[in-house]
Amino acid sequence: MAATENTLLHFTLRIWRQKNRQAQGAMMEYVVEGISAEMSFLEMLDVLNEDLLHAGHDPVAFDYDCREGICGSCSLFINGRAHGPQFNTASCQLYMRTFTDGSTITIEPWRARAFPLNKDLSCDRSAFDRIMQAGGYVSVNTGGAPDGNEILISKAIAERAFESATCIGCGACVAACKNSSAVLFVGAKVSELALLPQGQPERQSRVENMVAQMNREGFGSCSNIGSCAAECPAGITLADIATLNHEYLMAKATSEMLA
Ligand code: SF4
Ligand code: FES
Repeated sequence: MAATENTLLHFTLRIWRQKNRQAQGAMMEYVVEGISAEMSFLEMLDVLNEDLLHAGHDPVAFDYDCREGICGSCSLFINGRAHGPQFNTASCQLYMRTFTDGSTITIEPWRARAFPLNKDLSCDRSAFDRIMQAGGYVSVNTGGAPDGNEILISKAIAERAFESATCIGCGACVAACKNSSAVLFVGAKVSELALLPQGQPERQSRVENMVAQMNREGFGSCSNIGSCAAECPAGITLADIATLNHEYLMAKATSEMLA
């Protein structure tokens, strides 16, 4: 049945429940009713949790912050797709009108060795923070605020850098990759700063340090399949992986020449 604004929907949810990292998990089934077609996916989970709390049960743990596609926290694997079935859409921006009334929806956490599970649908994505700490920044001297037009950047470069900067650090690329590779995320961060004048002083050390940290965290190598870009809610493209490879090769070649 097509969902209209006033339709109230019901769903059967198959959700991964796991008390903690050490406990054994299992898929549990729940029915949610009275769901507005205009509710977001996370609001639908809020309804489920209210029902669970009223019945004296443990609510389902899941991550979120902004609920508007900015923070990248809402890491849900929905019906076998990272962030669900809608292209360029984070789980929090997904609306229940997308799903057929009465259908069964399977919800799992990101599954990757580098993203260990906290509880239920919540996983620890601090590996991304450590990669950013390894090089995803620019160093600036303190002092007065620089004039806005002091460093001129062409519109084409600014727009290309902005495209890479839209990565929200959600980890869907890792969850979608059969090798749990993080190269799309790292590629987006490296590309953005490699394009801008502010990123030049640390350009070489940045890519070397971020790739080294990515490897230490246990992410796999690129599968060359492209499922990362297909599932990315921010539309980051494989071009950023090509840039990462180029930047890394150039940095390594320069390091060896200077050694
Ligand atoms: S590249 Fe896309 S999928 Fe990967 S962390 Fe960034 S926004 Fe998420
Ligand atoms: S909750 Fe912030 S992007 Fe979904």
